[in-house]
Amino acid sequence: MKLALLASFLFAALDSALAHGDDPVAERQEQLERRRFLEIHPNNLDHCADKFKRDGTLEEAARRRYKRAASLMASSALHAAVQARQTSSLGKSHKSDKAYTPQTDPATIFAGSNSCILSPQATEGPFYVLGESIRSDILDGQVGVPLHIDFQIYDVNTCKPIKGTYFEMWNANGTGVYSGALSVVNGLSGMSDKANLDRTYLRGSQLSDDNGVVQFDTIFPGHYDGRAPHIHVMSHIPSAKAEANNTLWHNKATYAGQIFFDQTLVDSVKAVAPYSTNRQNLLKNNADAILLAEAQTSDPFFNYVLLGGTDLSKGVFAWYSVGINQTFTRDIMAAAMRYKEGGKMNTANPKIPGLDAIFPGGFPTAYQPGYGG
Ligand SMILES: *[C@@H]1O[C@H](CO)[C@@H](O)[C@H](O)[C@H]1NC(C)=O
Ligand SMILES: *[C@@H]1O[C@H](CO)[C@@H](O)[C@H](O)[C@H]1NC(C)=O
Ligand SMILES: *[C@@H]1O[C@H](CO)[C@@H](O)[C@H](O)[C@H]1NC(C)=O
Repeated sequence: MKLALLASFLFAALDSALAHGDDPVAERQEQLERRRFLEIHPNNLDHCADKFKRDGTLEEAARRRYKRAASLMASSALHAAVQARQTSSLGKSHKSDKAYTPQTDPATIFAGSNSCILSPQATEGPFYVLGESIRSDILDGQVGVPLHIDFQIYDVNTCKPIKGTYFEMWNANGTGVYSGALSVVNGLSGMSDKANLDRTYLRGSQLSDDNGVVQFDTIFPGHYDGRAPHIHVMSHIPSAKAEANNTLWHNKATYAGQIFFDQTLVDSVKAVAPYSTNRQNLLKNNADAILLAEAQTSDPFFNYVLLGGTDLSKGVFAWYSVGINQTFTRDIMAAAMRYKEGGKMNTANPKIPGLDAIFPGGFPTAYQPGYGG
């Protein structure tokens, strides 16, 4: 013990000497002080040892180091677990071999998937439009690989379905363009396609039924620069009510996230028209930062079946369970609003230098990364 203390004392002295190594005057001064200190405190180390023992300093240090080591080990174990989960949800196939169709009873579809896992929150992105219709068929004539989606939403605190709550979704079309909003990076037409403000395709919300289920008919999302294909979703606060004209004007959510597709499915969709004509770049799942962040705490991929086997024109049926913490709410930023007289960009959002020119409707920064796990 004495030896150990002596050694650590010497190392401390060495450290401070080395700290002044390039300054001979300071170094000499330091050595003088050190010598004077040792002259006045001849029994210094023994004295310290006794004091340390009395105060429990050594035990405390030992405990502290042990805890630190344990936490480092735990976090590296956690890291390994996260990595393993990431690889498994990224590499894992979500294709089902069961013969589900869009008409399959939700109880069958979601059997076994109702473990209470909080779904990962993610940014709503810069393309949310306020005031879209309540409807199940959100196609508005868009063509692509038909995608029929069942979402089931449930409360993670009770593990029960959330009934009677609006669940909204939006996705890009076959060539990677969002309707209803303008942005320099919204497709290759950018800001020039002003008529896009009046389009409402691939957007809508539904009221959840007694099983907490909502269904949508859309098309498989097209890819666009910088992102892997995904579907945006948001669950409204339970008190959100529809307007008389069957639209929703609420931007308070208990949950907003993005759900992805297996890379193999993305690749096969990309090979068929109109996806094959899309001149934007396809980002792979394993390079999408939002996907990777979500995958750290959950499995953000749709389960699916191909309705016509390799004939993608018959479409895809996909499903996903969303675990929601209803005591949490967040404001969703609307890039634009859809009025009776047409769409308007939202000019009230805070301007972010450098991004305001690209996203005139604002760019959301308020979501809490990592929230939900
Ligand atoms: C996607 O929408 C844009 C306008 O918003 C349109 O120009 C483009 O043709 C659409 N893509 C397909 C495949 O219809
Ligand atoms: C649910 O949200 C509340 C409010 O943000 C938070 O205090 C609580 O920890 C959350 N519960 C879970 C399970 O994350
Ligand atoms: C729907 O009603 C709201 C007011 O409740 C109005 O602001 C909006 O313009 C209407 N939207 C459409 C598409 O008619």
